[in-house]
Amino acid sequence: MKDKVVFITGAARGIGYEIAQAFLEEGAKVMISDINEESLEKALEGLSENAAGIACDVSKEEDVKRAVDATVEQFGSIDILINNAGLQHVAMIEDFPAAKFEQMLKIMLVGPFLTTKYALPYMKEKNFGRIINISSINGLIGFAGKSAYNSAKHGVIGLTKVTALETAEYNITANAICPGYADTALVRGQFEDLAKTRNISTEQVLNEVLFPLIPQKRLLDVAEIASLAKYLASEESRGMTGQSLVLDGGYTTQ
Ligand SMILES: NC(=O)c1ccc[n+]([C@@H]2O[C@H](COP(=O)([O-])OP(=O)(O)OC[C@H]3O[C@@H](n4cnc5c(N)ncnc54)[C@H](O)[C@@H]3O)[C@@H](O)[C@H]2O)c1
Repeated sequence: MKDKVVFITGAARGIGYEIAQAFLEEGAKVMISDINEESLEKALEGLSENAAGIACDVSKEEDVKRAVDATVEQFGSIDILINNAGLQHVAMIEDFPAAKFEQMLKIMLVGPFLTTKYALPYMKEKNFGRIINISSINGLIGFAGKSAYNSAKHGVIGLTKVTALETAEYNITANAICPGYADTALVRGQFEDLAKTRNISTEQVLNEVLFPLIPQKRLLDVAEIASLAKYLASEESRGMTGQSLVLDGGYTTQ
């Protein structure tokens, strides 16, 4: 990854932050971006001098264009784009606020479209690019209560395929990673909500609700997702494009 430039959205914490660290360890230059400026500042404190940060709300076209251009200005190119920003809201469709649905689609589907749109000219110019979209097992199967998240994560798999086709002749690949439940704040928040609703402990949510659905009976370590991202960014994976790689401890196998 030496001299490669990585741009990651939603990277102030969780999976995005772990991916940033993993690429820095490989010698890449990494621009982390996030809507949350305060946690972005904090995140940068833990990263090496080859990292920089930029505030960017991926649902806003002008923010995305500015952040992509600033990355190229600072580091000279964008070689690897990782669309990671995301959020969750759980409610049945009748109770799901339409504005929330629209916001989630904007962040998790329109956002990846915008970053891709503005990064592609730089990648094509260099005849190199790796686009990695963080989808989810929610991009493959339905989950009651997650209409917006499921729609966005299914959508991003379609976007990945089209990106792969439109870039195939430019040494650019586009792939999606579909993780199952990983141990992050986003997922812990869901378990805490469920624990409150059912009046049980978070531990019980894991053991009684979640683990029966996961053959490996564990949450993923975010480092496992970062490893797959590194593979998808590497020279070795150049023939793989338009794919959705599932990393879920067996969740979608049964
Ligand atoms: N944690 C899991 O188990 C899991 C499983 C499958 C997929 N994913 C996906 O992985 C990605 C990262 O998840 P995570 O668990 O690390 O979540 P997280 O909540 O820890 O991190 C998400 C980050 O995205 C940022 N963000 C939210 N809205 C944004 C916006 N409009 N613009 C820019 N940044 C924004 C947040 O500030 C936060 O820093 C998400 O796309 C999520 O859907 C997570």
